[in-house]
Amino acid sequence: MKYVIGVDLGTSAVKILLVDQTGSVVQEVSKPYPLIQEKTGYSEQAPQDWVDQTVAGLSDLVQSFTGNIEDIQGISFSGQMHGLVLLDEKQEPLRNAILWNDTRTTEQCSQIYDSVGEEQLLEITKNPALEGFTLPKILWVKQYEPELYQKAASFVLPKDYLRLKLTGALHMEYSDAAGTLMLDIAKKEWSKEICERLEVDIALCPPLVASHELVGTVTSEIASITGLSSETKVFAGGADNACGAIGSGILEEGKSLCSIGTSGVVLSYEENNDKDFAGKVHYFNHGEESAYYTMGVTLSAGHSLTWFKEVFAKNESFEELVADVSTVAPGSDGLLFTPYLVGERTPHADATIRASFIGMDSSHERKHLVRSVLEGITFSLNESIEIFRESGKTIDSIISIGGGAKNEDWLQMQADIFDAEVIKLTSEQGPGMGAAMLAAYGSGWFDSLQDCAKEFLKEAKTYKPNPEHVKIYQELFKVYKQVYQQTESLNKQLVAFRK
Ligand code: XUL
Repeated sequence: MKYVIGVDLGTSAVKILLVDQTGSVVQEVSKPYPLIQEKTGYSEQAPQDWVDQTVAGLSDLVQSFTGNIEDIQGISFSGQMHGLVLLDEKQEPLRNAILWNDTRTTEQCSQIYDSVGEEQLLEITKNPALEGFTLPKILWVKQYEPELYQKAASFVLPKDYLRLKLTGALHMEYSDAAGTLMLDIAKKEWSKEICERLEVDIALCPPLVASHELVGTVTSEIASITGLSSETKVFAGGADNACGAIGSGILEEGKSLCSIGTSGVVLSYEENNDKDFAGKVHYFNHGEESAYYTMGVTLSAGHSLTWFKEVFAKNESFEELVADVSTVAPGSDGLLFTPYLVGERTPHADATIRASFIGMDSSHERKHLVRSVLEGITFSLNESIEIFRESGKTIDSIISIGGGAKNEDWLQMQADIFDAEVIKLTSEQGPGMGAAMLAAYGSGWFDSLQDCAKEFLKEAKTYKPNPEHVKIYQELFKVYKQVYQQTESLNKQLVAFRK
């Protein structure tokens, strides 16, 4: 039997999957690393933590692997998107990485509009200027840390940095480059125009490759630390959402995905780059060559639940925390939660909005708060589904992956709130599976990613919407949507009190 490894470099942890030729996950390792949040709106990580924890995870995996090490033929990556890793000429990080959920760059987003123009930006990148994307972060460093910026020789995204340290080769691939706001997504080349207008040296942009492309092998040093063979082939990999799409078989028009990790996304396959969503949803290159996807993003999806657990149930497991949500009726007895803990992207691109519990009553118990957090996250994702439906897409069936697909009650809640069938796969590790599939396809095991998906991906269970719950949630969704409008100006007034 031959194997490939899929490494998913997430925001809370790196998850590593060993997958065999039938698509079965034979080993799974996860290693956490911390988030550094110095101020409100800031979110950083130390790139060295990603490398150390991945190397530790690969070593653990190899140690318990009983087969022939040469049979692990390839490795590829899925990575949290948009994070800026600024490198000096020795390819060492100049500072901590500034992550996708860092919203310090509202000022730089305005500079982008002033210099490039809103329409022109949308024309080239298919996306608006959002705080989370990479270009505003580059401009922030240029403005506020000019001494570091002057030393910059290149920049990469999180999983590109990890791959650089495992292979010694510097690249970025299209699906992640699309999230920088510097890629001409139709031409698949760095935009000279954007770089010139913002006075960012285009030489900072690394060479571009396709997601399944072979970029090297692991270095002899990494091979000797981890126990992997130094012949192990390394394939470029993709943005976590592109890999999530591959790992859930979102490889043809009409297929949609709901992925709940730290962030939450609703994503839809696009054959072409010519649809016009006017920047309401993100529009990026897929990990499948020549394809695209559109996506709405909830910044704090799983993050809202993790926050709740950290604050109110530190010593309990997630399973214990959500164990009794099914004993609370849909609607949490009048309690609503909006998941804007770090601001929001879709449908409200707003860095200053913050979360709310609305309607707390002295009869509510902790389980009501937990259920309302799950409902609030799901309502937020439903706002993205609503945009897709309004654009004419039919969404009657959705594949659900990530932490949100681990709990039966939450899966049923997704079906009821989305008013669509929700499908759970045998592995909910979409991004890691997608990375493994890129390695399998890159290694020549299959003629296409579609063929690989046919072999690797299996449906485990379908959750059908319960008509009574659908009705309740449709009414409540109308109230949910008003909470943003009603709390927007309150949150602006609270900015002065945040630290
Ligand atoms: C997508 C985004 C997040 C991260 C999470 O635009 O910012 O989904 O990719 O890892």
